[in-house]
Amino acid sequence: MAKLVILEFPDERLRTKAVEVEKVDDEVRQLVDDMLETMYDASGIGLAATQVDVHRRVVVMDVSDDGSEPLVLINPSYTPIGDDKDFLSEGCLSIPEYYAEVPRYLKVKLNALDRNGDAYELEADGLLAHCIQHELDHLEGVLFVDYLSSLKRNRVAKKMQKRHKQTQGA
Ligand code: NI
Repeated sequence: MAKLVILEFPDERLRTKAVEVEKVDDEVRQLVDDMLETMYDASGIGLAATQVDVHRRVVVMDVSDDGSEPLVLINPSYTPIGDDKDFLSEGCLSIPEYYAEVPRYLKVKLNALDRNGDAYELEADGLLAHCIQHELDHLEGVLFVDYLSSLKRNRVAKKMQKRHKQTQGA
């Protein structure tokens, strides 16, 4: 397994739309394993392939308290169950140390393939439902800060750029 580099906002590559996985083969399973390692190492609960500069429809998640329930989503899609939405504070491994509340559907039905290429269906609510919507947005090139005002988003972008300069020592 290998740890992958996570792109950080406002990197334009995060805006790439991911393409469907045609075949779930060993190469895709390797990507899944590397993404899980990268996500756990960064103490995240979700990671989309877009965030590691691989533009294929692959997501990993684990919303359990002890990181014991990895979930693999290949070619995922969701449909809302009902119209109700709520707000939860969200963060993102591509936007470190920034949190904001964004509206998400309360309940969704997820359809995806697992690491063996087998289709499954899952009804989710609460944190898992939020996480599914957040990660699937990544595959479309959408970030949670896109739900905020452009004023706020620009402020976050500036903060991130400053942070990148500091960590690069430039
Ligand atoms: Ni994210």
